[in-house]
Amino acid sequence: MATNRLKIIAISGSLRDGSTNHAILNFIKTLCPDTIEYVIYNRLRNIPPFDPGLDNDNPPDEVVDLRQLLTMAGAVLICTPEYAFGVPGSLKNALDWLVSSSTLVDKPVALITASSVGHNAHASLLLTLGALSANVVEGAALCIPYIRSKMDNDGNVTDKETEEHITACFNALLTSIS
Ligand SMILES: Cc1cc2nc3c(=O)[nH]c(=O)nc-3n(C[C@H](O)[C@H](O)[C@H](O)COP(=O)(O)O)c2cc1C
Repeated sequence: MATNRLKIIAISGSLRDGSTNHAILNFIKTLCPDTIEYVIYNRLRNIPPFDPGLDNDNPPDEVVDLRQLLTMAGAVLICTPEYAFGVPGSLKNALDWLVSSSTLVDKPVALITASSVGHNAHASLLLTLGALSANVVEGAALCIPYIRSKMDNDGNVTDKETEEHITACFNALLTSIS
């Protein structure tokens, strides 16, 4: 059901069943006040490979949907692993489709990179978000290494410090839109 509440769109860069990044997004949902609608976008796999030739007045439906969803959002939260020292292809692909639409210009964004190491993807995503003129909120960019050792098999964050860092990161995003 559509509501008039402010929306946060949360995107996981992992398509994997049992993803730790998806579990972090679920954990953050428990921190979100009722006054805000928290929507986890899980259709990255449906977005076609970026083709500048199709990025015209009539782009693919999934791209139109993603752009609309993000345009309506008060803020965006990205939580992603690193693959092969870089950004997961499906996430980068989606961001490439946003360049021409100005969808993320000045949009408050939080970025969490939760991976084995993750620094390269984190730095690369900050560059990409800069290219999109997104407003990466101060205090809302967090890189969490060794993520698998900080969560249990049920997707709970078991490391207290990590839980605190995630909470502070999300609170910074909330403050930016309050
Ligand atoms: C093909 C592949 C490549 C990976 N490369 C990296 C890497 O370069 N750096 C890193 O920190 N982790 C790397 N990882 C580990 C994942 O980031 C890690 O397993 C993470 O927990 C996956 O996130 P998820 O649980 O949300 O799916 C790689 C994993 C796979 C499957």
